[in-house]
Amino acid sequence: MKLGRLNHIGVATPSIADSIAFYRDVMGATKIHASFDMPEQGVKVCFVDTPGADGAMHGTQIELIEPLPGNASIAAFLERNPQGGQHHVCYEVPDIHAAKAWFEGQGKRVLGEIRTGAHGTPIFFVHPKDMLGILTEIMETPEGAHA
Ligand code: CO
Repeated sequence: MKLGRLNHIGVATPSIADSIAFYRDVMGATKIHASFDMPEQGVKVCFVDTPGADGAMHGTQIELIEPLPGNASIAAFLERNPQGGQHHVCYEVPDIHAAKAWFEGQGKRVLGEIRTGAHGTPIFFVHPKDMLGILTEIMETPEGAHA
């Protein structure tokens, strides 16, 4: 297992539109991507860039997550946290299958199978109770992402 870059912080929100206004007007974000639906995950997502270092395309992103109708888990999160809040963190790894085997070998509960995440690369989630309280997304580094 080789820990890669902190790719993004997932933030649940009851309104991506309101959160975009916050990151633009309060936080001074200048690069906010178009939001898009991920119907198979039951969410709408929107990425907000933070600046990159050393010529990287961008730094760590904020992933805004709004539940689509019928989504149970994000909706439940918003019931507990009506304003929204930090939902997960996502680290990159060079090899998604090696990373899954690594976590499982340590008795960490991988939630579901490897699937395609919001960046179009393979991802999986690890149970927060096995990760010191943090729902953790592991994502294969996108090709050419940090050249
Ligand atoms: Co994510």
